[in-house]
Amino acid sequence: MATSRPTTASHTHPVDGFHDMTSKDYYADSYAHFGIHEEMLKDSVRTGSYRSAIVNNAHLFKGKTVLDVGCGTGILSMFAAKAGASHVVGIDMSNIIDQAQKIIEANNFKDTITLVKGKLEEADLPIKQFDIIISEWMGYFLLYESMLDTVLLARDKYLKPNGHIFPDSAAMYIAAIEDQDYKEEKINFWDNVYGFDFSCIKDIALREPLVDTVDLKSVVTDPCMIKHIDLTTARKEDLSFEAPFTLTATRNDYVHAFLAWFDISFECTHKKVKFSTGPHAQYTHWKQTVFYTPSTITVSEGESITGRLTCAPNERNNRDLDISISYKTPRDHEATMQYKMY
Ligand SMILES: C[S@@+](CC[C@H](N)C(=O)[O-])C[C@H]1O[C@@H](n2cnc3c(N)ncnc32)[C@H](O)[C@@H]1O
Repeated sequence: MATSRPTTASHTHPVDGFHDMTSKDYYADSYAHFGIHEEMLKDSVRTGSYRSAIVNNAHLFKGKTVLDVGCGTGILSMFAAKAGASHVVGIDMSNIIDQAQKIIEANNFKDTITLVKGKLEEADLPIKQFDIIISEWMGYFLLYESMLDTVLLARDKYLKPNGHIFPDSAAMYIAAIEDQDYKEEKINFWDNVYGFDFSCIKDIALREPLVDTVDLKSVVTDPCMIKHIDLTTARKEDLSFEAPFTLTATRNDYVHAFLAWFDISFECTHKKVKFSTGPHAQYTHWKQTVFYTPSTITVSEGESITGRLTCAPNERNNRDLDISISYKTPRDHEATMQYKMY
């Protein structure tokens, strides 16, 4: 299975000081353990970008009310308070908010930040209209297990007309990569396991996108944007989409997979703050997402692979993503692959 950010398996041990939580609680509440927050906080591209966007734009925050959707440890709420917000409400449904309360008190923000424990969708917030919404909602492949629909709901219910959303823009890209060695190790491995034919598992492995870091030198085509989300106007329905793509080869090479990543931008800031999770950019814990193709594609410089990507939440479990990629190679080979992130 592609590794998922809110992992539960490694968070099943109660920790000193969390005596009221059992391993079962941790399993149910994947954001309760500090470990996942440690990973996010230490992702300096992620957390540093939010800090720059908020703290370096104090003119937008001064005297303003701010809603932090999914506040976790309260880091973004404290950036907003530091930037001069008159009041910040942070909401989170995870037990990590008990620690956030202590963190806020330890840093003397008790009078400026109010924390609410619960689901945004069911909450009764102490302030009904906010000037700014801040949230870090992004998942792998941007939308996997993401809480963007919660942020859109918060916008429609709580944001004042002409209020700001931090961030307010997201874009998804794909390219094609040469990935012979890793495909051998992860996919073709199943063809021959100690002399036995395990290829039925190969078919399953092929359909699971792999979250991993990819070297820029593996990328053999130009990137193509497949989705742009303007958070000020997007609707929940827009998160199911179909996008055409054309990937033009930048050299003669083999293609073993498609690669996807996303960029995030705080467009409402004067000096625009943005970051990328692509193979050309500094490491982030989102890494990139690899979709292996069933057969190897050959491309020559200047030739194009054309195709179409569709993405939608799974009908039975809307936390899972169904992704299909149809493509036509320069040698006129056509294929469609159905992938599932779960
Ligand atoms: C990716 S973490 C971000 C935490 C923190 N804002 C940060 O930047 O470090 C997302 C948080 O949103 C919370 N969350 C997800 N869906 C939620 C919902 N519907 N209502 C309230 N909190 C939610 C999770 O419990 C988690 O702590």
